[in-house]
Amino acid sequence: MPSMRFLITAGPTKEAIDPVRYITNRSSGKMGYSLAEAAAHDGHRVLLISGPTSLDVPHGVDFLPVETAQEMYDAVQNQAPYADIAILSAAVADYRPVSVPDRKIKKTGERMILELERTKDILGSMRMEFGFRGILVGFAAETHDVESYARGKLERKQCDMIVANDVSRRDIGFDASENEVLLIYPDRTDLLEKAAKTHIAHQIVERACRLVRGKGLS
Ligand code: PMT
Repeated sequence: MPSMRFLITAGPTKEAIDPVRYITNRSSGKMGYSLAEAAAHDGHRVLLISGPTSLDVPHGVDFLPVETAQEMYDAVQNQAPYADIAILSAAVADYRPVSVPDRKIKKTGERMILELERTKDILGSMRMEFGFRGILVGFAAETHDVESYARGKLERKQCDMIVANDVSRRDIGFDASENEVLLIYPDRTDLLEKAAKTHIAHQIVERACRLVRGKGLS
């Protein structure tokens, strides 16, 4: 297998509410960093675009740190033309505050309403907006009806594969060392049984490379 160029997103994004507060989620980055490490270990060139985490950048991986969903969108748009395989495992904020004051918001009442607006969908922009023609692997974090929601994402976002995890479980998914995932393809679904994220990552990287061969892109 020739060396491929991987673009991998990982971690959470942080959306500021004011200078001292922000919205984020429980992603530790472990899944995405394991993917980057696995691809680099197999001899591929890897660019890791990551939101804030406490993890060390894996050896041999190029690194682009970002903070917000918009910064991740811009970084992926700029880098996608140089990738053969894109794996978007980041937990990107779907909404952000409409406006961010430059001073701390003071307590004024018992309730407060925060107005949010949608962020741009990076995975959903890959094909049409960014013109990405390589192998596109998305993730789906679901708490119920995991397979059917994930299959919907596969079709709407024109992915070659969706890695779906059940984030209602505490033993896998967000901030766990293990994961158990469904690999959703256009014509079938495969189960990767519960294992260390490092092990799951190797299998995902291998499957993505197989998709390159299957499409005759290598
Ligand atoms: O980081 P860990 O603690 O190891 O946890 C791993 C994980 C649970 C975060 C990971 O396995 C995972 O499921 N990542 C996807 C999380 C997510 O945001 O899922 P989603 O179903 O909301 O999004 C679907 C896909 O769209 C994902 O590929 C996501 O990267 C992408 N997306 C989402 C929103 C957005 N604005 N742009 C996007 O590209």
